[in-house]
Amino acid sequence: MRPYRSIFSPATTQERRDNFEDYWVYSQDHAGEILEGEKNLTRKRDALAKFRDRSIRVRKPLADPESFYRNYVRLVDDPRRLDRKTLLLTFIYKFARHEWAGISAVWDGIPTMGQSKSTTEKISRYHLCEEFCHIRLFHEMFRTFQLDQIEWIPLGRWMGGIYRYLPKLPESIMSPPAFVSELMGLTLYRHLDRLLDDILADEPEARDHIRSMLREIMIDELAHTGQRRNFIGPLGMAVSRGMVVPMFRMFYRDLPESKCLLDVDKMIEEAIAFDYNAMSPDVIAASWVPTYCRR
Ligand SMILES: [Fe+2]
Ligand SMILES: [Fe+2]
Repeated sequence: MRPYRSIFSPATTQERRDNFEDYWVYSQDHAGEILEGEKNLTRKRDALAKFRDRSIRVRKPLADPESFYRNYVRLVDDPRRLDRKTLLLTFIYKFARHEWAGISAVWDGIPTMGQSKSTTEKISRYHLCEEFCHIRLFHEMFRTFQLDQIEWIPLGRWMGGIYRYLPKLPESIMSPPAFVSELMGLTLYRHLDRLLDDILADEPEARDHIRSMLREIMIDELAHTGQRRNFIGPLGMAVSRGMVVPMFRMFYRDLPESKCLLDVDKMIEEAIAFDYNAMSPDVIAASWVPTYCRR
């Protein structure tokens, strides 16, 4: 029998309450003490230092770094004319920039760890620190490609406004889109992982380095997906399922590189049928799964 059940499996209120406690114990053990002033976590900080200390850089820098810098914030050239490495990197930046803008907006709108009373408030603060750690890992990916001039540029007024408004919504309204965005991240990282073999075939050290950082992120995202699912009751689960297609379509329409790199239909299919059994056992072992998704 397969050991895991669907992420959309039903759960009682009591089960969800117990799972928050379980997740909170897991995540502190996984990522360490919070360093709120740095938006950081001790174990994650140490893991990043280890990645940086390896100082792995591509053997051959991008043929035309200028084309990366010209297109990374906004794509101005025809994506079909860009080489695949540049395209992959400008895409990763745009995706990560959305994450960064989203978490930066939420950071100022939720209770600090000191102000947090409930376990869910503490989880939310801690979760954001993990996301900031992901941005640092993405930054290290660009450095691996000798791209040291990256800046994290805020989104325009319209998108930036949406992200600032989201944390002000009641939990029940905010939870389904928050869950689907975690699912979207997780699905994307699995697809990116597959692309690495093809696009970085001539850079085996850099490919392995990027892959291990991506794996670190994936372990967190798998846990976040279960954690965000745990906020949601039966009605919200139906809403979430219905939001997968429109949210994926809307999001990827805004990232023009995705047409050349990814199969969005396939990602939608994988998200709706998301199956823990498809994750590699070492990732699952280091991550967290709600009890009602285990058999
Ligand atoms: Fe993330
Ligand atoms: Fe996440």
